[in-house]
Amino acid sequence: MTSAYLSSQPGSPAASQRHWRLDEIDFAAIRREDIADDEALFYLVISASFVEILADLYTANLGRRYADDAPASAWLNEQWRSEEIQHGDALRAYALAAWPDFDWDRAYAGFAEEYGAMCTMEQLEHYRGLEMAARCVVEIGTATLYNGVERSTREPVLRDLAGRIKRDEVRHYKQFQKLFKQYRDSEKLGFWAIAYAVFKRVAEARGEDSNIAFKHAYLGRHPQADAAEIARAWDAFNRSLGPWAKSHYPYRMAVSMLLALLPMPALLRRGLKWPLLGVARLMMFG
Ligand SMILES: [Fe+2]
Ligand SMILES: [Fe+2]
Repeated sequence: MTSAYLSSQPGSPAASQRHWRLDEIDFAAIRREDIADDEALFYLVISASFVEILADLYTANLGRRYADDAPASAWLNEQWRSEEIQHGDALRAYALAAWPDFDWDRAYAGFAEEYGAMCTMEQLEHYRGLEMAARCVVEIGTATLYNGVERSTREPVLRDLAGRIKRDEVRHYKQFQKLFKQYRDSEKLGFWAIAYAVFKRVAEARGEDSNIAFKHAYLGRHPQADAAEIARAWDAFNRSLGPWAKSHYPYRMAVSMLLALLPMPALLRRGLKWPLLGVARLMMFG
């Protein structure tokens, strides 16, 4: 793959199906003074822009896997892929306007080179239904993260953008959930197989991709940093997310969306919601 950044084509058929357009956002209206001191927000937005733009790579993998399921592959290739790429385009445009001193393209090239090599077909789940459940978890991660950013930031352009992306991610979750249910029934997937796939993906949610994205965002600002300095900065970044999450991360939304994936009686699901909420608060951000 190429590590150069390639924007999506605005005139393509896929672009016309999106729920919003990039030119609806007035990046010139960014109030830089609202974000100037927010180091954690910088790394959050830059990391998100890197991962979203690479969607081009992992959405292509998934599209190939479901090539014989015409409705699923049409949605994956035309709607989902196009919207994820637009998230990357929009976050990149935001980063360029908000932090003009940061060399986004250079930092992204480093990220794409390191992370792109890890995105292979072999990483997909063996059962199609379990892969769909895992995709739901990823969409829960992004939907709740953008919801948290929308709720926490004072900067109006970012608030608007995070809200738009969040709504797309919630729609993606719903569509993946629909596909998951179809495959769950046809592949006869049981509770434990699903629960294992779901919680495995939850455990991975703050793993390698966010770590590598952070590393290259950090190197963009501190090109001389060695591995030990980056590791210290990564720890500090994670610690700084704790208080942010406590105030702004939508735990309730995350737990409800996760529980909706597990086949169980509605009463049990309601009963599990509150204890799981406590566990999620403890686990996700410390
Ligand atoms: Fe996205
Ligand atoms: Fe998404």
